[in-house]
Amino acid sequence: MQGRLHPASYKDMDLCSSSKGAVEMEPDAPVYVGKEDDIKKSQRITTKVNDREVVIFYHEGKFYAMDACCYHAGGPLRLGEIEDINGQPCIICPWHKYKITLETGEGLYQAINPMEPSPTPRWRSKGVKQRIHKVTIDNGNVYVSPPDLSVSLASDYYADKCKNNGDFTMEK
Ligand code: FES
Repeated sequence: MQGRLHPASYKDMDLCSSSKGAVEMEPDAPVYVGKEDDIKKSQRITTKVNDREVVIFYHEGKFYAMDACCYHAGGPLRLGEIEDINGQPCIICPWHKYKITLETGEGLYQAINPMEPSPTPRWRSKGVKQRIHKVTIDNGNVYVSPPDLSVSLASDYYADKCKNNGDFTMEK
């Protein structure tokens, strides 16, 4: 079930009941994506938020949401492994192993400085490449806020292409 509710009103709503009367709808209001317990159990789901395919991860006690298609070439991030890199949980894209931080959507890469006496690879950021989405938990329900598209990001290109790829299964 998906429902878009005014942020001020969704706190008090029983989302399992459809006969509560009219609810104020707003295009940028948080979208219900599932039950907290169900997502914790499956650890990841893909769903659509305002027609955009989004993957939601539950990892070590936190929820994260990001565009489901990798910013590099559209790989399915829902099938990636999560690894800790430099203290940051990252999804590793299954196609070409790009690393993306779950918290910020930054692309990480390893670089060496040849000017150092003994060059050692260090993790660096390419900046935010993957669009992340705000997750809100309320009363056992999980909501994802539609993105602010005023700044474009690399993953937007594939978000558009993946629109018709709908895959709404829960998987681990
Ligand atoms: S498509 Fe994700 S790393 Fe290439």
